[in-house]
Amino acid sequence: MNLEQSSGISLDDPKFDRLLSNLQANILKFHGRNFAYHLFFKFQEERGTLARKWISNFASSSITSAKRQLTDARDFKCGKLGDGGPVFTLSLSKYGFEKLELSGSMPGDKSFASGMKASADLLHDKPSSWEAGFQKEIDMLVIIADDHDFNAKNETNKLITAVSGFASLVKMQRGNVLKMTTGVGIEHFGYADGISQPMYLSDEINGQSQPRAWDDETTLGRVLVEEKSEEAGLFGSYLVFRKLEQDVKGFKVAEKNSIGTGMGLPKVVNSSGTDDDELPGAMIVGRFENGTPVTMKDGAFQPDPHNPTNDFSYEDDPGLKCPFYAHVRLMNPRKGDPEAGPADLLLHRITRRGMPYDDLVPPRLNDQEVLAITQEMLEDRDKPSDGVGLLFMCYQSSIGNAFEVLQGFWSQGNIAPSPVNKGQDSIIMQGTEQSRTLPEQWGSANQGNPFNFSGFVKMKGGEYFFTPSIPFLKKLG
Ligand code: HEM
Repeated sequence: MNLEQSSGISLDDPKFDRLLSNLQANILKFHGRNFAYHLFFKFQEERGTLARKWISNFASSSITSAKRQLTDARDFKCGKLGDGGPVFTLSLSKYGFEKLELSGSMPGDKSFASGMKASADLLHDKPSSWEAGFQKEIDMLVIIADDHDFNAKNETNKLITAVSGFASLVKMQRGNVLKMTTGVGIEHFGYADGISQPMYLSDEINGQSQPRAWDDETTLGRVLVEEKSEEAGLFGSYLVFRKLEQDVKGFKVAEKNSIGTGMGLPKVVNSSGTDDDELPGAMIVGRFENGTPVTMKDGAFQPDPHNPTNDFSYEDDPGLKCPFYAHVRLMNPRKGDPEAGPADLLLHRITRRGMPYDDLVPPRLNDQEVLAITQEMLEDRDKPSDGVGLLFMCYQSSIGNAFEVLQGFWSQGNIAPSPVNKGQDSIIMQGTEQSRTLPEQWGSANQGNPFNFSGFVKMKGGEYFFTPSIPFLKKLG
């Protein structure tokens, strides 16, 4: 299969049957479950054979294939299934490959083969300040996701017992979705998230309205790589995991703090010259809290509260409606960078599979509330400074050419090859900040006072993984 020419994958097309049966779930489409446990294990010394045997059995009995995931999703949609049940995936780090004596099959990406800590300088990470579990060597990540926390926890406990003869749990991290009453997913700062994603499946691609300013159809070349294996045509994907703590209180105070200088956003008036206290934050993120792209602020555009649009581009905006350094513009400049062709920029696109987390006791929002959040709940509750955040996860066909380009270069304001996109990402940049400016009026060239706005997201730990095909894991036995 030529990955660069393959897209529009369909359950109904027999030519994709082998691919979908062999590929793990959650790569081509988000598993969509409400709760997930992320279990990080280290293999015990000299227990490699036991580990290989268990992984092989687990691959045969439990790991969810892409085909199973898509079939269940279809049955759920037409009422044949109450819910899709649990989803299980398994990924290995470079240490895992080495300890299972799989160095000959180690996937070729250099960043993966060195591990996340080796990229600390590029990413401005400080592994010595990470949570203790993430400072250790992590060999294997198992994700167990379910719509009901009770089921996910139950499966988690069973699995920890099952692997205890050869693996030690170094970290268990729960995640849960946050959904507004409209059904739209948000992250802890309160902005709609998970809207813009590469599309690989024919039903998603064909579901886009026409004509479009932006098309999310993407080839499998951005997300899959062929494995080094005797059997041809087996595919896996690189998975980046980062636990990112969010200082919600600090962010929300600085977002509405129109002091004009120092840490806080300046005032920006809308095109009629009226104050709009949502505009500065939206221009930093690139979208309003309800997901409306900030470039569409004043047009005839009517937002659908249940389905924020991803049909927009920056071609007509030289950074005056949506600054070049807005988070979503830096992470996906679409067609809006005059010096870099869209095709080049698309080579760095990632497939996000993140989920918020809440480690607070009691939690910021309890398990019933997380599925029906109102604006009042977000505004009235104490806003946490720590203990909540995003379990950032993304799949890609090269960590060095995708995640590391976005986090290491573009978020720091070093976008190549264009000098036009200068400016750091206020959400995820790390290291020393340079001040930036916003237009005094949305869409106008006059810039306000320089401001600083960063440091509200703190890296707590992570690792690079590879999520192999199911046959690759079965063969380990
Ligand atoms: C706590 C940390 C983060 C927060 C709060 C955050 C928030 C958001 C929000 C609100 C959106 C807009 C919704 C959407 O378009 O789906 C977004 C989009 C996006 N984010 Fe993040 N993000 C975070 C971390 C990251 C990281 C670490 C990366 C990659 C290095 C990243 C890459 C992206 C990409 C690629 C998009 C889609 C842009 C597009 O296609 O238009 N984000 N993020």
